[in-house]
Formats: sequence, structure tokens, C-alpha cells
Amino acid sequence: MARRRQLYEGKAKILFEGPEPGTIVQYFKDDATAFNAQKKGTITGKGVLNNRISEYLMTRLNEIGVPTHFIRRLNMREQLVREVEIIPLEVVVRNVAAGSMSTRLGIQEGTRLPRSIIEYYYKNDALGDPMVSEEHITAFGWAATQDIDDIVQLTLRVNDFLSGLFLGVGITLVDFKLEFGRIYENDDMRIVLADEISPDNCRLWDSKTGEKMDKDRFRRDLGKVEEAYQEVARRLGILPEAGVRDLKGPEMMQ
Ligand code: TMP
Repeated sequence: MARRRQLYEGKAKILFEGPEPGTIVQYFKDDATAFNAQKKGTITGKGVLNNRISEYLMTRLNEIGVPTHFIRRLNMREQLVREVEIIPLEVVVRNVAAGSMSTRLGIQEGTRLPRSIIEYYYKNDALGDPMVSEEHITAFGWAATQDIDDIVQLTLRVNDFLSGLFLGVGITLVDFKLEFGRIYENDDMRIVLADEISPDNCRLWDSKTGEKMDKDRFRRDLGKVEEAYQEVARRLGILPEAGVRDLKGPEMMQ
């Protein structure tokens, strides 16, 4: 395989130049971090599962007309996506109180919220991704008011659709984080869903038992982390054909 130019290495993924202009290859690692990378570890097979889970969810979202950067999965650990200009925001949607919202506002984890709540965080590791308001976003030019309207509309559609999809397989979508990017075509600019959607950036609880099936198992040292990610894929009906034995997948090729 031809050598590819590495564009960026993040905490969970590496981005390479894609085969055609305007495309990027996302390589999913098994590395896991939490608390702004103060806690580091490896979740064996996570990259393979997240690649597959994100492919599945982005494809379903594309089918209902939510524009995403996803083009196609290339192999066990890689997917081809459209190159976008990332909007430096982490958009979090919450349906049930958990995590930082519970800590910040003193609301018991598991409390169903009166309605879905959207929060914005400025994507900046050096600052620890601080929470920001629409005022900060527009004043500092990270996104315009119209962009925020588009992001909110898309986020709410994604939330409704994924909440239903997960509920259908016995999982409550407690909260999750999305990232958006811009694509420029001729004189037009479109905002599309980017990054990934996986148990790394969602809270997924078993609807009956409340058992956590996401990265909180790693963050909080709850054990059975690999098993939780596998169970999410199994319930979605997409556990890789090779089964659980081969989840390490091929080594990275450069
Ligand atoms: P939080 O409760 O820690 O603010 O997290 C809310 C949601 O966002 C949860 O589903 C995990 C996800 N998340 C990320 O994807 N990346 C992050 O850096 C953080 C802090 C949270």
C-alpha cells in the first residue's frame, strides 16, 4: 500500500490524506483517554467496534436526510470521509442527567430531564474544553447565528432518531457529543455532521437494568469495558463477522 500523509493524530483517531482531493481516511485506535487525557488506557478492539458502530449510525442518519461527512468504511479500522473545516465546538445533548451536568447542578444521575438540553463546549484541549454560550460562539466568530440554528436543528433530529433506534434495542440514549464541520461547494457552505458517533462519545444505559454500556466503564473503572462496546454492536446487529476473537483487527498500514 502506498504511503499516506498523516494529517493529524488525536486521542482516539488518526487522520490521513484520502485517495481523492477533499477526502480523508479516519483510522480508529484502541487508545482511550478521559478527563482531558489525564487518564490513559487501551480498550482492545475499540477501534474496530467504533469504526463499525459509527459507520452504521452515520449511514442510518444519512438515510433520513441528515448530512454527514461519512462516505464508506474501508476496512476494520478505517473509513473514508469528506474533508470538512471543523467547527471548534463539542455539542452535547442530554436526555437524562448524568456526568458533568449532575456534578455541576447537583441533579441525581438518572433523573429524566424535562426536555432535551443542548450544551456547547469550546473544543480546546489546552483549556480543557470549557462550556460556552451562544454569545461566546457568535462573538468570537466560531459560528454565526444561522450556523447555530442549523446545528440545533440537526442535533435535535439526530437525538430523536438515535433515541428511538437505541430504545428499539433496549438501550437508553442518556447523552452524547456531536461535532460539525463545513463543506464549501462553489459559493455555498453546508454544515454536516462529522467526527464519530460511538460508545466513546455517548452515554448508553441498558433500558431495563440501567447498566452502563459506554466509556463511563473506562472513566469510572467499572470493568468489562470491551464487553460493553461489543454488546452495543451486538444489539445493533453489527458485530463484525469475524466475531469477538478478531477484534484487534489488522495492524495499521502507512
Ligand atoms: P459530560 O457529562 O462529561 O459533560 O459528557 C457529556 C457527553 O459528552 C457524554 O456522552 C460523553 C461525551 N463527551 C465526549 O464525547 N468528549 C468529551 O471530552 C467529554 C467531556 C464528554
